[in-house]
Formats: sequence, structure tokens, C-alpha cells
Amino acid sequence: MHIMLHWLQFFLFASEITDAKVEGTALKIQIKDRVLSFEDCWLRDHCRCPECYHESTNQRANHILDIPEVTIAGVRNSDTTVTVLWSDGHTSKYEGDFLIQFEYNTWKVHLRHVPILWRGDGVSAKVAKLPLNQFVNNKDGEKFIFQSLLDYGIALIENVEPTMEATEVVCQALGGVQHTMFGGMWKVSTNPDHADTAYTNITLKQHTDNTYFTEPAGLQIFHCTEHTNGTGGENVFIDGFYAATKLKEEHPEDFDFLTKFQLEAEYIGDGHFQKNTAPVIQLDGSNNIKHIRFNAYDRSPMAFASSEECRNYYRALRNLAKYFEDGENQWQIKLLPGFVLVFDNFRVLHGRTAFTGKRILCGSYISRSDWLDKARTLGLIH
Ligand SMILES: [Fe+2]
Ligand SMILES: [Zn+2]
Repeated sequence: MHIMLHWLQFFLFASEITDAKVEGTALKIQIKDRVLSFEDCWLRDHCRCPECYHESTNQRANHILDIPEVTIAGVRNSDTTVTVLWSDGHTSKYEGDFLIQFEYNTWKVHLRHVPILWRGDGVSAKVAKLPLNQFVNNKDGEKFIFQSLLDYGIALIENVEPTMEATEVVCQALGGVQHTMFGGMWKVSTNPDHADTAYTNITLKQHTDNTYFTEPAGLQIFHCTEHTNGTGGENVFIDGFYAATKLKEEHPEDFDFLTKFQLEAEYIGDGHFQKNTAPVIQLDGSNNIKHIRFNAYDRSPMAFASSEECRNYYRALRNLAKYFEDGENQWQIKLLPGFVLVFDNFRVLHGRTAFTGKRILCGSYISRSDWLDKARTLGLIH
């Protein structure tokens, strides 16, 4: 909230440009008591005139090699704009409101969505729940669901007919189905034809899907359309960002190892050989956790550079997995027909208790690009 207010205040005062002058290669612009600095190469690249920028497609007109290496020949400003005269005769005019977005700290804070970490059952009261007809083709409903996916990594859609067709309607509204070697919409039952442990009825410990893909599923959709003549089969979820944050606090050397060590994962079977290598915990440029890839079952057999690296691997993975398997951290829920659960496969791990009887789970994957695209068009992130 504080950050948002700060941003708004700054934005409101944007029009009050009190000075603009050249210092070396940079243009210094004074807005109230703040001085913003822009390099000449940046300014020329960000010229918004029709020769330099296609407004209709929001694309630059010039290749980076075609931007002339020019210097600032003159500058003048009004309250709201800055005009730059270039050494090659070109003129660029910048709105103060445009420039102020690129004050570094403001820009950086503005870009990042901060997730709300959670642990245990308490999250069930916080995640968004909506009936299908208040979600599909309803902008407020979409915002409510997507905000929950951004904040907690989970959302629920109710009153969905227990069929694959009805489930697909939910998937389309979440960004569209991601096609993989498992198909588009998939159906999991006790089917021995697949090489994956998901197709059995044993307990599945916490994991993310597709660690062996270069592009793991962004979202996963679960809809248990049938469970008859048996018990068990509850779904279990945990906030992987919470677990990784605890690991960082309590075992910083393990956290560090898992952000760097390139762990290999694979899927071999039914005519496929998938493989990918990546750290278990991936960080963004500011060291915020942005992606957890963890599936203990799908780890490849690996060689290690040293006995130290080998022992670090086992210690770090076990210490992380202990948070995942701690019941206090988990949210356990029995999914019933009509009830579609969506979760962020880059953040939330899932598992399942053992079950008996006939159980059919249908759903799909949605690519991260596609669901974040929807979240951006809804104005929830930048
Ligand atoms: Fe899974
Ligand atoms: Zn221009």
C-alpha cells in the first residue's frame, strides 16, 4: 500500500518539470525535488515520433544498429514536456508523464507483483471461489480469480458440470489450453498405460509437474469428475515460495545451493524422452523467488563434480522437502465433482493421498505466458 501511494504521488506531480539540462552524455530533468537522469542513447531510442515509433503496434521503427549515435545539441522544457534537438537535426519531444515511469526505483517496484506467502489450511478462507457463471465472460469475476492466482497461487471455480467439455470452458477463460505430450485436456484414472506415477493410486508426495520440460505448465486445472466405490484421493497443496523462504532463513547454504545447482529431470517412456536441466529454486534479477521446479520422482541419475557437491545435493533437497511434507504447511482438500481447482505450477506444489475405488481427474495445463497475458490485460500486473 505504501509503495502504491508513493507511486501515485510521484505520478501526480509528474507534469511539474522545473528544469532540463545536459550534463556530459546525460539529460538531467528536475521534477519537484527529484532529478532524473537519462543517457542520450536511451533518449534517442525512446523517441516517440512517427519516424522512430509505430504507435499503432507499440513497436520501435528502428533496429538497434540503425539508431544514429548522436549527441544532444539543445534542450528546452515546458511544465509538461521536454524537447531535445539532436546533432543530426532530428527533434524528439517527451511527455514528463512518459519519462517519469523510467525513474529506476519506481520502474522496478512497479514491475514486480509481490506474492502473499501462506502455510497450511488457513489459505482455504483466502483463495477466491466463484461459481462458473460469475467467472466466465465477467470482468470483475476474472479479476477476482486472477488476483487470487497472483497472490496465493490458487483459485477455485464452482458449479462446473463434471465433464471434460465444461472443464475446458474454465481452461479457455484462464488463458487457453497448453498442449503437451499428454494432450490438451487430459484425464487421469487408474490407467497402467502411461509411464508417469500420476496414473497410479499410490500416495504422491509434493511436486511440481513437468520438471523435465523446457516449458513446464504455468497453471494446472484439476476437476475430479468421479470418485466411486472408494475413499482417499485427497489433494494436498503447499506454497513452494513459503517453503523456499523458510529454507533461506534456516538453511541459507542449502537455499544458495538450490538456486545454482543444475538439476536434471527426465521422462522416459511410451515413445518419449524428455529432459531438462535447471535449478530447483530460480530467482529473478533482484533475488526474489520466481520459480520452483521440484519433483523428487523425476530426477535423472546424475554424476557430481566432487563428494562435497554430491553431499550438498542430498542435504539441500532433503531439507527443502521436509517443509513440503510438513503437514502444518500443507492444505489438504477433497475435490468433488463440480469443483475446479486451479494452481500456479511455478509456485504451488501438489500431491495426493492414496485412494481406493474408481477416480477420474480431468484437467489441463495453461502456459505461463498465456495466463500472465490475461492477468496483464485485466490490469492486474505490468
Ligand atoms: Fe502432478
Ligand atoms: Zn524520432
